[in-house]
Amino acid sequence: MKILSVVGARPQFVKLAPIAKAMAAAGVDHVICHTGQHYDPMLSDVFFEDLGIPAPDVHLGVGSASHGKQTGGILAAMDDVLAEHEPDWVLVYGDTNSTVAAALAAVKQHIKVAHLEAGLRSFNRRMPEEHNRVLTDHCADLLLAPTTVAAEHLEREGLAERTIVVGDVMTDVLYQVRDAVADKPSPIGAELGLEDGTYSVATIHRAENTDDPQRLAAVLESLGRVDHPVVLLAHPRLVAKCEAHGLDINQGNLRSHAPLAYPDLVASCLKARGIVTDSGGLQKEAFLLRVPATTVRPETEWVETVELGWNVLVEPGDALTAAATRPRPEDTDEQPYGDGNAAERVAAELLRA
Ligand code: UD1
Repeated sequence: MKILSVVGARPQFVKLAPIAKAMAAAGVDHVICHTGQHYDPMLSDVFFEDLGIPAPDVHLGVGSASHGKQTGGILAAMDDVLAEHEPDWVLVYGDTNSTVAAALAAVKQHIKVAHLEAGLRSFNRRMPEEHNRVLTDHCADLLLAPTTVAAEHLEREGLAERTIVVGDVMTDVLYQVRDAVADKPSPIGAELGLEDGTYSVATIHRAENTDDPQRLAAVLESLGRVDHPVVLLAHPRLVAKCEAHGLDINQGNLRSHAPLAYPDLVASCLKARGIVTDSGGLQKEAFLLRVPATTVRPETEWVETVELGWNVLVEPGDALTAAATRPRPEDTDEQPYGDGNAAERVAAELLRA
């Protein structure tokens, strides 16, 4: 059995880590293809190093471009990769341009496609990620859903027969890293002289929040008005947009910091009093670490985090500032994202299918 994983952006490297381990344990011939969508070392190489992921077998080096050029570049380059490696399955992850391009390339060569993190929906058709995941789900032969809610979405789209709920692989890796860093001091706290529980961690990178200068200015301004230090881990897209719009991240209680390696991110979030983000992964990681999340988006794919009281969706402005200072919600034992063994189930399903 040969499985070709295609990844390209930061959250996909995190998801690949437990999958690569599970594939090795199951004796699968696992080929890794990195599209090069993310190429900065702090968004790419450090994840492979810190999470013990084998180096990619193939690197497409596609880099940054418009959505059409980036997606089309990966689609074209995948033809040769698929012809050379002849995998039994192509495994694609999440909702990036790399995901949809690889899925489309494979299905056109009649190679079976499995989609990890299938069935998530924001129902916001302006998001590139929403186009990517809907199209990928409808290309794929096996839909590996992280939650029952995701499986219900697929059922409504007529895809129930190809769907299996396996749990969330990000939970696997998060629990492992959390346990490894639990006794370590917070890297952000140590570097900036901030006591545990006195600061928030923020990330903002989504096109919907960064492309419009007025909206981005409002996000930064409302973060600066939070009554405690907020450390914004600045994604290259955010830095580029701030420069283009003439905006300063450092204002009021808000301070800019470079992106963190995954173990440092987890250790810093574990000791934070709150997390403010527009990332899909981080709002769920906040819940799993039991740190209150404030999500700067009108909707979320991870609805369980909101229903259980650990995530609040806000618009920039007073609502954001207030949500970031709210008290901790009531604790919960619910595990909507699985038990931390999703990757083993993924390997078993692929071997069986
Ligand atoms: C991509 C994904 C998004 C995911 C995010 C995680 C799509 C459509 N979006 O968004 O779903 O949440 O990754 O980070 O696939 N850049 C660099 N260095 C890099 C990568 C990007 O400087 O290593 C800059 C470039 O200016 C680029 C911009 O960031 O134009 C955006 O990068 P891109 O890969 O297009 O999308 P992300 O915003 O990272």
